[in-house]
Amino acid sequence: MELSIDRVSKRYAKGVWGLKEFTLSLGPGILGLLGPNGAGKSTLMRMLATSNKPTQGAITWNGADIAKRPDPLRAVLGYLPQDFGVYPHLTPVEFLEYIAALKGISGRAAKQRIDALLQLVNLTDVRKRPLGGFSGGMRQRVGIAQALLNDPQLLIVDEPTAGLDPEERVRFRHLLSEFSGDRIVILSTHIVSDVEASVTDIALIREGQLLTHAAPEKLLRGIEGKVWEVVVPSAELPSAKERFLISSTIRRSDGVHVRIVSDEPPGPEAQQAIANLEDAYLYHVATDRLAQAA
Ligand SMILES: Nc1ncnc2c1ncn2[C@@H]1O[C@H](COP(=O)(O)OP(=O)(O)OP(=O)(O)O)[C@@H](O)[C@H]1O
Ligand SMILES: [Mg+2]
Repeated sequence: MELSIDRVSKRYAKGVWGLKEFTLSLGPGILGLLGPNGAGKSTLMRMLATSNKPTQGAITWNGADIAKRPDPLRAVLGYLPQDFGVYPHLTPVEFLEYIAALKGISGRAAKQRIDALLQLVNLTDVRKRPLGGFSGGMRQRVGIAQALLNDPQLLIVDEPTAGLDPEERVRFRHLLSEFSGDRIVILSTHIVSDVEASVTDIALIREGQLLTHAAPEKLLRGIEGKVWEVVVPSAELPSAKERFLISSTIRRSDGVHVRIVSDEPPGPEAQQAIANLEDAYLYHVATDRLAQAA
């Protein structure tokens, strides 16, 4: 099982590139795709899911170009697009039966699978209510269920946790860890903590280009010794925000505890802190932004 992205670019309009010379090779595992708004995550995922074609370069699934031969990939694909839409008059069961039929699953097998998936995304109680009356987070869970219908070998989920409450986010993380096994899973998110525990690989992307592709442990090692904590009075927070790359702030009785990512200690009082993936993400994105600006 191999998915290869070879110097893929996507041009939307004259001078508007969604992706530029993007190269990445993937085997079984969970890849977390992280990057700022407009980085090109959805552009890449749409092409991987064969709903869009590269302008340049090629994507191959087990050696075959998916733009020329999409069927082998489509047969094993589960896909949740970022702008997932539902038919408001259908119930979750009807909607999933419809998608199952499109994927060639029918009868008893479909019914059992749908029951199990509704349980998995915690929608059993509302399975007979029209989707039109569902909240954003509930619809998103229907989207997750439909992506899993055919027990896909390649699962592509674009911001799967968008709109989910904390409890449902945890449920999704568990689902993902149990599901992965011998498959390729690609998910994009802005919530770094969503991928922290489950991903085997992280790809950081910015302005259509791959910044880095590595295991989370390696990203963490890369910023060891670059994360600091300082306590500043509330009034000094705005100036600190201008001068430093801040990954979080917590208000306490003695002032604001500010977490700063920096090669050098941000001040004589700064204490070293244990790096997390959010720090690593910010560091790479900010470093690249500076490099581009220079
Ligand atoms: N259909 C489209 N037509 C024109 N430009 C597009 C289209 N889709 C994306 N773009 C542009 O391509 C670039 C990448 O967008 P994309 O949606 O892939 O980013 P993203 O990383 O998914 O962002 P987000 O985190 O906001 O979902 C952006 O500059 C965007 O404006
Ligand atoms: Mg997107």
